Amino acid sequence: MTVSRYFIDFLNAEIGLDVDSIGIMHVERAIDERLRATRSPHAAAYQALLQTDAGERQALIEAVVVGETWFFRDREAFHTAARLARQQFAGSPLRLLSLPCSTGEEPYSLAMALLDAGMPPDSFHIDAIDISAEAIAAAGRGIYGSNAFRGRQLDFRARHFTAVAGGQRLNDPVRARVRFRQGNLFDPALLAGEAPYDLVFCRNVLIYFDRDAQQRAISTLCARLAPHGLLFVGPAESGLLVRAQLRPAGIPLAFAFHPPATDEPAPRRMPRPAPLRSLRLPPATPAPPATPPRIAFATPPAAPPATVADSLDHARRLADGGHFDQASAVCERLIDREGPSADLLFLLALIADASGRPDEAHACYRKTLYLDPAHEQALLHLASLLDSRGDATGARRLAERAHRARGTHDV
Ligand SMILES: C[S@@+](CC[C@H](N)C(=O)[O-])C[C@H]1O[C@@H](n2cnc3c(N)ncnc32)[C@H](O)[C@@H]1O
Repeated sequence: MTVSRYFIDFLNAEIGLDVDSIGIMHVERAIDERLRATRSPHAAAYQALLQTDAGERQALIEAVVVGETWFFRDREAFHTAARLARQQFAGSPLRLLSLPCSTGEEPYSLAMALLDAGMPPDSFHIDAIDISAEAIAAAGRGIYGSNAFRGRQLDFRARHFTAVAGGQRLNDPVRARVRFRQGNLFDPALLAGEAPYDLVFCRNVLIYFDRDAQQRAISTLCARLAPHGLLFVGPAESGLLVRAQLRPAGIPLAFAFHPPATDEPAPRRMPRPAPLRSLRLPPATPAPPATPPRIAFATPPAAPPATVADSLDHARRLADGGHFDQASAVCERLIDREGPSADLLFLLALIADASGRPDEAHACYRKTLYLDPAHEQALLHLASLLDSRGDATGARRLAERAHRARGTHDV
């Protein structure tokens, strides 16, 4: 079937979705699925149903949204949140928001990171919201399969989970720190009565919105941030915030931003793309610190390990700790010794990106994709870079490739 304009407009109006970001085929499949489930004889009948049945509108949204997530995804953001929480805690509980939270991995990772950093359980509280009622129900159950645990640093699993039939059940002390509810980021009433948040995570959803929805989402979240607060986004989304004139917090690989000054709301129109380093932002109220928040960076390990995998891990840890030059040097040595690999080039690209060297980052993302054309993160980062340079077509093409590379892990 061909997806009619009505469905495209409906999804855009309801959830800000830019259908091209997930591919028209994905939307087509979702509508087909709903036609069969509702026994609608044709698209026109289903369209009529959608107009009168709020439950069906939600069902279509459930079928369309991409709920891909996992514990400690882009982990530096969680370590940063824990460090800042320790620095900022002054008696009254810190307020954190994860929106969208999908099936709970993100807010639960926040809770684990803060507890592991020694924060008392009643010193913080996390609100977690997602448009998908199914995802919220899964988050409430708190039982996770292997797909939620990715990468090699999984020590948190032994500390916070108990093996049960069907997976790993998150232990109650972590669950108790998070309050879940279903809600739409574009519902003006959603956060209206909420006190300001100290830290807001809105990661890996802006990429699915059109420009207007991205601006509205950023404005809504900034309005709910405390003046000293930080907004965390996904790696592929940081270019959007730079263009919205938010001030990068300067914390490597955390993708965190200060809100605009309170007397100056987030701009309604995106300015022309500007490179990170040339940005001149209005001072925040109260005046922001002259230097980025003080972060206790990890001390670099003394001797680099020998195997390629260990050396790459070593370089990643150096980069995570902000030791960009040392991390680059490890990568360069490895390339000299073993030849280039997609992972090494990707790390060099990330370092160049985080250091405000977009041309070098661009070249390294391209080289990564030459070696691994389906490298999802490289595709997303390069898409963001192109987008921030005004190349919307190129960015969209890469985002679609990333979506295809990812496969279909939808909730
Ligand atoms: C890819 S997941 C990201 C989850 C998590 N933040 C992360 O980075 O791992 C995107 C989530 O956004 C949710 N979502 C999409 N549009 C939304 C909206 N308008 N309001 C609230 N949640 C939305 C989807 O249901 C989905 O669970």
